[in-house]
Amino acid sequence: MWRAFFPGQANEGQPVAIHENFTKCSDLDAGFPCNKAYFRNFLSATIKSSSRGVESEMKVTLLMALTADGLIGKDDAHLTDWTAAEDKKLFKSFTQKAGVVIMGSKTFDTLDRPLPGRKVVILTRKKNRAAPWDNVTFTDLPPGELLESLEKEGHQHAVVSGGATINALFARHGLIDEIILTYSPTIFGSGVPLFAKEVSMNLSLEKVRRMGDNMIYAHYKVIA
Ligand SMILES: NC(=O)c1ccc[n+]([C@@H]2O[C@H](COP(=O)([O-])OP(=O)(O)OC[C@H]3O[C@@H](n4cnc5c(N)ncnc54)[C@H](OP(=O)(O)O)[C@@H]3O)[C@@H](O)[C@H]2O)c1
Repeated sequence: MWRAFFPGQANEGQPVAIHENFTKCSDLDAGFPCNKAYFRNFLSATIKSSSRGVESEMKVTLLMALTADGLIGKDDAHLTDWTAAEDKKLFKSFTQKAGVVIMGSKTFDTLDRPLPGRKVVILTRKKNRAAPWDNVTFTDLPPGELLESLEKEGHQHAVVSGGATINALFARHGLIDEIILTYSPTIFGSGVPLFAKEVSMNLSLEKVRRMGDNMIYAHYKVIA
């Protein structure tokens, strides 16, 4: 639960309780007319700043491999072994450069290896989870607090990389700054979507290119 201060409203400066699960105007008891655009633009910005801390400059990139029909896996235990070498190379170099990769426990269970050269943060509610590798940590911190703690450790860039549950968690907190999607020439027909829950984002396409022989790389900035 956070406190929002609604700019430009009669109650500006008066704290209104907001919750991570709020997705629409009617979830608020804000005391003023609220429409979808207001909710998206101001509320998510408020969540972002209040959960990260106003001074936070931590950049968050969502980096995911998609099939041509927009899926990230066949089921929640499906290892991402269906992407080409260029994609694996991109994941390794991008996450190592960022320094931190964040994922859900189901995704980590499909890998079950340490991903050297970067800090790997696994979200789980299971208090007893542990791994034998120094660079792997487990946490149940809310996403904003997790970013704050990573920033205090000196990190400036984190990559969120699945699965659908964790992607939705960060998106619904308004914490994703940019999205990099790689599209593989594969169709699953049914399976795991990019986000497990309803999410609303407006993007601007910053860069698109052919990747290797057969893939598409798309870089989007989250604008609201
Ligand atoms: N194509 C790609 O680039 C790519 C990348 C990554 C993953 N994937 C795919 O994504 C699929 C898995 O996605 P998924 O949505 O099922 O699982 P997930 O997002 O990887 O992990 C979900 C788990 O995260 C933990 N969790 C959820 N909310 C939490 C919270 N608020 N705080 C702390 N922990 C929390 C829970 O673990 P506990 O039960 O341990 O508490 C939950 O079971 C697989 O198919 C995988 O291959 C694809």
